[in-house]
Amino acid sequence: MALLELNNVSSGYGKMVILEKIDMYIDKGEIVSLLGPNGAGKTTLLNTIFGLADIFEGDIKFNGVSLKGKSPDKIAALGIGYSPQQQNIFPNFTVEENLLLGAYLRRDKEIKKDIEEIFEIFPEIERRRRNLAKTLSGGERQMLAVARALMLKPKLLLCDEPTAGLAPKAASLLAKKIKEIRERGTTIIMVEQNAKIALSISDRTYVLAGGRIVAHDSSANFLIKKDFESLYFK
Ligand SMILES: Nc1ncnc2c1ncn2[C@@H]1O[C@H](COP(=O)(O)OP(=O)(O)OP(=O)(O)O)[C@@H](O)[C@H]1O
Ligand SMILES: [Mg+2]
Repeated sequence: MALLELNNVSSGYGKMVILEKIDMYIDKGEIVSLLGPNGAGKTTLLNTIFGLADIFEGDIKFNGVSLKGKSPDKIAALGIGYSPQQQNIFPNFTVEENLLLGAYLRRDKEIKKDIEEIFEIFPEIERRRRNLAKTLSGGERQMLAVARALMLKPKLLLCDEPTAGLAPKAASLLAKKIKEIRERGTTIIMVEQNAKIALSISDRTYVLAGGRIVAHDSSANFLIKKDFESLYFK
């Protein structure tokens, strides 16, 4: 059984249909990337999984449990973490406070220990732990957004454009962190504008356009299709 499965999902906001007939699966341990032009519906797909959009048709199953009609809090409690594209940190709280806020659903005593463990992945933000998040660089902010989503120890992490707006060096550093998170046992769905980065770190890729999946293959196969970008990003 796949960790996450979408069967014939149509979804959107209010009465507006954005995604149509999405079939997709993610196996445990995979990094799956989601590519496509602006407005294709990539963020809406993550929102749909996380209970932030309306499902009109089809079903989503996580570990065999239907997510349909569940609130984001319930979905987070089941083991899905979300690092959103926008407003993904609290600028007027410190780095450490942002991480504590990320643990909002937890009542256990391990939270402090987990913060230190997450800082092992992100030493760049550990150095800034007592600084306000708004003073971080773009790359550090994106790291904090991902780190915050890890505070609920998700089995599946949804990551929306973690490298957006970053210079090439910062973008590849972030890609390395994503791989490390997977190595530590978290399955990942990553939305990316940077196709090369996404394809080089993911196992499989879905391409979305106009609210539908228009291509799906192993990332290795996409990488050898020379015309990849012109095919899907015109
Ligand atoms: N809250 C919302 N209410 C109504 N329509 C929305 C909402 N959010 C997004 N849309 C519309 O849904 C479509 C898909 O948007 P979405 O943000 O999912 O695309 P995307 O692929 O993530 O784009 P980008 O690469 O620019 O982030 C767009 O036409 C957008 O205008
Ligand atoms: Mg988006």
